[in-house]
Order: sequence, then structure tokens, then C-alpha cells
Amino acid sequence: MSTANSYFIGQFPATRLRRHRRFEWMRQLVAETVLSTNDLIWPTFVREETLSPTIKGMPDIARFTIPELVEAAGKAQDLGIKVLALFPVIPVEKRCEQAREALNPENILLQAIRALKKAYPHLGIISDPALDSFTCHGHDGLIKGSDDVDNDETVQALCKHALLQAEAGADIVAPSDMMDGRVGAIRHSLDTHGYQDIAIMSYAAKYASAFYSPFREALGSDQCLGVKNKKAYQMDPGNAREALREVALDISEGADSVMIKPGLPYLDIIHQVKQKFMVPTFAFHVSGEYAMLKAAAAQGMIDYEKTLLEVMVAFKRAGADGILSYGACDVAKLLKK
Ligand code: PBG
Repeated sequence: MSTANSYFIGQFPATRLRRHRRFEWMRQLVAETVLSTNDLIWPTFVREETLSPTIKGMPDIARFTIPELVEAAGKAQDLGIKVLALFPVIPVEKRCEQAREALNPENILLQAIRALKKAYPHLGIISDPALDSFTCHGHDGLIKGSDDVDNDETVQALCKHALLQAEAGADIVAPSDMMDGRVGAIRHSLDTHGYQDIAIMSYAAKYASAFYSPFREALGSDQCLGVKNKKAYQMDPGNAREALREVALDISEGADSVMIKPGLPYLDIIHQVKQKFMVPTFAFHVSGEYAMLKAAAAQGMIDYEKTLLEVMVAFKRAGADGILSYGACDVAKLLKK
């Protein structure tokens, strides 16, 4: 390649890459990656009134009641955010082994979807059929024996849950549970019930990560899970080829888009997935990643706004078409400046 020569004419370098870095307009003119509010998905927590709003591990993030969520979604849209992902916080007394509350048509998640759709018919809504909000053991699925998540039983439950979410008005169903075959089963179930147009965003490569702690605290599923872990269904952080197999399977089963999670420690996976499959690819900038930025900024070690924007651009450069981030509204504000 001739672009990277170190050719000198006399004492002067022939090529000076700094020429294009002199002014803001010049840098923008040659920018390879452009971030916009169109790329952002805002993950939110919705709680029952009796629960507290605060999440220790996630400064400036609240667990919303439905009216608060509707108000926050209005403000987010004013900033240019067009799509929300919803995660319900269910009181312990309503959690059980069978995750029965998930199938209650009046549960807080389904109510929230209906309330948002009523208030804002054009707001995009992504919902997750995984069962971890609803189980007393904190797993994403139904267990058999002491602690083993039963794949096929869980898939049946996910299909029912996904159907209720579509009925309530979800536009995209995004299963985060990592059960085998769930994308195909959910697709089939949605199609046979008249929801052919509801898209599936698969959490295709989801790693068994320690970066999810603040999220589990937000859901209250950390207490339920205790010392147990999700390694029997989520991926080993060292595996990349396996992530490609997961993505290939989910696409073959009918996933419309795929997600990689967590985000920043897995940019290589995002890159490979986008290069290889060329499908809409999303990154989840997860709770622990958000918490790290906030915590370091609170100590005066880094600048939250600048690091957040840099992380978002890095996701896009790696190949992500969109990003789920708890900082989505902050990013949108910064982009307006
Ligand atoms: C569970 C789920 C998790 C997240 C999204 N859905 C956590 C887990 O697998 O235990 C993590 C999101 C985050 O950390 O922000 N179905």
C-alpha cells in the first residue's frame, strides 16, 4: 500500500497525516465513523410501586414506575432516542420456580409496554422473554433437578412470554437467555399467531460475564442467584469461534439481528460477526461497563462524557449498527451540543 510510506523529500515527509487533523471541520470531513441518535437503544428498568428506585451499582439510573417510565421515554424522544429496551423488576414474593408471573397478562412488563405504546405509538419497544426477572432462583429459564436449566421446557415458556409481549405491543422481541433453538421456536410461535412482522433481535453471543452485576442488583436477581452462575448456558469469555456458531445458528433460525454482549471487552467478536454475516449487529454496553465509567468519573479519574462518547464510537468502528447503553440519553445530549 502506498498510503503508509515513509518517503522523504529531502528532510520533509511526503505524507503528513496530521494535515487532515488541523481543524474540526477537516477531521469531520475525513471521519470514518459517525455516531448519531439513530444508533442508540436505551435500556430501562420498570418496577412495581412498592420497590425502591435506586440501584447502588448504577449511579443516575433509576428503576421507574410506569408513569415515571412514560415521562422518561418522552424526554428521551425529545433528545432523539427512538427505541427503548425494557427490563421488569418483580418483587421477590411474586417470583417462583415456574416464573408464573411472566405469564400474568397484567404483569408490570406487559403493562409498561401497553402504557408506552398508548402514549407514543411510534416509539420502538424491545422486550426480553428471558425469565430471570420472574424466577425465585434467578436463572433465565426453568430448572430441573437442583440447578440445571432445562433447555426445551424453557424454550416453551419463552415462546409464551414472547407472544404476550408481542400482543402487548413490543416491536422487537430480544431473547437474552442463550437456550438452544429458542430463536426458531419463538419465530414459529409468533408466525403462527399472526405476528409475522415482529422482529427478533437475538442475544446471539452472550458471555457468562462478571460485568452484569449491577443489572442483577437492579432486577434483584443477584439475591435469587446467590453463589450460582449462568455458565451452563452463557458463553465462555475465551471462545470466539463458538460465538460465530451461535450467530450462524440464530440467523438460520430466523433472527433478524444479532447482539454481542458485553460490549467493550468483546469488540473483536462484534468485528468478526459483522464481517462474516453482514446482518444488523448490536452491542450491549452492559451495566458493569457503565458503572466503571461512572465510578472512575466520580473519583475524578476520567471524564464520563468524553469516555462515553469514545466507547460509542468504538462500537461503531468495530462494526456495530447500534448500541444498547444506559448512557444513551447522555450520549444524545452530547450529540446535540
Ligand atoms: C438476563 C440479562 C442480563 C442482562 C440482560 N439480560 C444479565 C444476566 O444474564 O444475568 C445484563 C445486562 C447488563 O448487565 O446491563 N437475561
